[in-house]
Amino acid sequence: MTALFDLTGKVALVAGGGRGIGEAIALGLADAGADIAIAARTPGDIDSVAAAVTERGRRSAAIQLDVSKVDELEPAVDRVVDELGEIDILFNVAGINIRKPATELAEEEFDQVMDVNFKGAYFLSQQVGKRMIARGKGGKIVNIASLTTGMGLPKITVYTGSKGALGQLTKGLAVEWAEHDIQVNALAPGFVATALNSHLWENEEFNTWILDRTPAHRVGTPEDMVGTALFLAAPASDFVTGQVIYVDGGIMAGSVWPL
Ligand SMILES: NC(=O)c1ccc[n+]([C@@H]2O[C@H](COP(=O)([O-])OP(=O)(O)OC[C@H]3O[C@@H](n4cnc5c(N)ncnc54)[C@H](O)[C@@H]3O)[C@@H](O)[C@H]2O)c1
Repeated sequence: MTALFDLTGKVALVAGGGRGIGEAIALGLADAGADIAIAARTPGDIDSVAAAVTERGRRSAAIQLDVSKVDELEPAVDRVVDELGEIDILFNVAGINIRKPATELAEEEFDQVMDVNFKGAYFLSQQVGKRMIARGKGGKIVNIASLTTGMGLPKITVYTGSKGALGQLTKGLAVEWAEHDIQVNALAPGFVATALNSHLWENEEFNTWILDRTPAHRVGTPEDMVGTALFLAAPASDFVTGQVIYVDGGIMAGSVWPL
């Protein structure tokens, strides 16, 4: 493997890495040589991903964590550092969605989504960023954004707001921490079949709409996210910061039409 994509000796924390996109990214980083800490709410998930990392010959740590609980973040980061060493790479993957018309969303639901998707990523970046700055060896932070970082979709307005905010946080942190050689970028997946949205794939009308709307004419897989994730975690992206990269089969580029 070229050194540009080699993560040997690096420690990555994947928050929300228990399944789906986070799991695929965690295993992809392990394949590139990194030791991996998986943090998520569900113990079963994190244990199985940690075991898969170990099977690949890397060190792993399984950390039970609710990213929306700010007081849990510092102890979780301390545990990762104790078990694996200082963190070189952070992925903020944890995300939830509530589908409801904007006229009906309750304040409690608003807070739930914002607290996981935005507040969690903000304060986990703060905890990890503080340590990266103090250590003076740079680092990589990658936020998992969404199509809704750059476009609107109906009946998921708080999700859209949270992912828009995450895109802007990416830019703000990128400029604030550039002098510390910390690159902060976002990977924005298109439609990817995971447990988060499995109910949608069972809906034929929705499936047809997605295929028509996606120039690549297919739904993404978690593994489709790994190449860009690796690029953003590796030395190959050392002069790339503050970017939102859409990995979406062409959706953000435009639509195909029947001409
Ligand atoms: N699947 C898609 O089509 C799609 C598209 C765009 C963006 N995304 C984003 O990608 C990310 C991963 O989505 P996915 O489809 O793999 O979802 P998923 O539901 O399969 O996985 C989400 C992961 O986040 C963890 N998580 C949720 N809330 C948490 C919390 N409070 N604290 C810690 N961990 C928590 C879950 O345990 C799980 O491991 C999310 O941020 C999502 O918004 C997904």
